[in-house]
Amino acid sequence: MSGDRMRALVFRRYGGPEVLESTDVEPPVAGDGQILVRVRAVGLNPYDLHFLHGDPYVARPMMGLGLRKPRRPVILGSDVAGVVEAVGPNVTGFRAGDEVFGTVGLGGLADLVAVSAGAVAPKPTNIGFEQAAALPMAALTALQGLRDVGGLRSGQRVIVNGAAGGVGSFAVQLAKALGASAVTGVCSAASSEMVRSLGADEVIDYEREDFTKQGRGYDLLIDTAGNRSLRSLCRALEPSGTLVLVGAGGGRVLGPIAQILGARLQSRFLGPRVLTMVAQTKAEDLLLIKNLVEEGKLRPVMDRSYPLAQAADALRHLETRHAHGKVVVAMSAAGAKA
Ligand SMILES: NC(=O)c1ccc[n+]([C@@H]2O[C@H](COP(=O)([O-])OP(=O)(O)OC[C@H]3O[C@@H](n4cnc5c(N)ncnc54)[C@H](OP(=O)(O)O)[C@@H]3O)[C@@H](O)[C@H]2O)c1
Repeated sequence: MSGDRMRALVFRRYGGPEVLESTDVEPPVAGDGQILVRVRAVGLNPYDLHFLHGDPYVARPMMGLGLRKPRRPVILGSDVAGVVEAVGPNVTGFRAGDEVFGTVGLGGLADLVAVSAGAVAPKPTNIGFEQAAALPMAALTALQGLRDVGGLRSGQRVIVNGAAGGVGSFAVQLAKALGASAVTGVCSAASSEMVRSLGADEVIDYEREDFTKQGRGYDLLIDTAGNRSLRSLCRALEPSGTLVLVGAGGGRVLGPIAQILGARLQSRFLGPRVLTMVAQTKAEDLLLIKNLVEEGKLRPVMDRSYPLAQAADALRHLETRHAHGKVVVAMSAAGAKA
């Protein structure tokens, strides 16, 4: 940081990771109900790629960005872990020096970010900043997808399509923690050992076997891969089962919107319940995740950590859609050691 400016990774036009630019900007201040966090590490998500790519196009206005190009330089990065630098008015429960993790939407890939106090929680004490930054969005999505949307009950059989990814690697562990009697993970052969190590009772290599052609048997299917038709996904479920669509394919124009609308239209004809979801940032769920990590029931799987100078490479790796676990950017020497 030079003078009263801070480092930030911004983009001024939509595109691939090559449009990212490292620059100095005005640091934010903690507004009403906000805390200012000194960022130590940032966990990357496909969510960040949507902003960077500006896709789907129809969502640009909803994302608060310009239609042809962003109206202002945008600082990328949603999932952060760091140390509270200052607290704004009307904030209780946090003070300078506290270690926190949470999800901020935009602004994370910078030395400092101002975030609503309700979007962070104390960092688990038994892991470092990089691991903590890997948690928020993916673990919240897995938790809410299984528990709130999927209504997972003890003794049910769960299958996770995309089990090696950010969301999937948490979904496998959380399904067990929430009482599933058996958890199946669908992933490539290269990820199967990792998925087993997370507690999956069975692993299906999607390059060799089609899990949708093995007959029914699952009560809950969490689909993060978004690469199969609703009809085929429903074939894997009991008639009373539930399909939760977490990730959706779709083109650059409509993106997941087409699949969400399709799900709403088709669900009444498919037998199993078909539900879509958008993860919610809830401090109480971040706290639950912290507790599960501290109890040893949940751990982030780290694909790789990159220094800030290589954040574009980190995003390129995420773009392959074959990251195993989470991709993280370390913001400082302290973050890199964590
Ligand atoms: N609805 C929501 O609120 C919400 C929230 C968060 C994320 N999402 C969405 O959920 C999706 C997943 O997010 P993520 O963070 O888990 O992404 P990610 O970490 O980038 O997922 C990568 C994983 O996908 C797996 N994969 C790729 N092709 C596959 C296939 N054909 N079958 C099964 N697995 C496959 C890869 O495993 P292998 O290398 O083993 O193939 C890799 O481990 C994204 O579309 C994201 O936008 C939605």
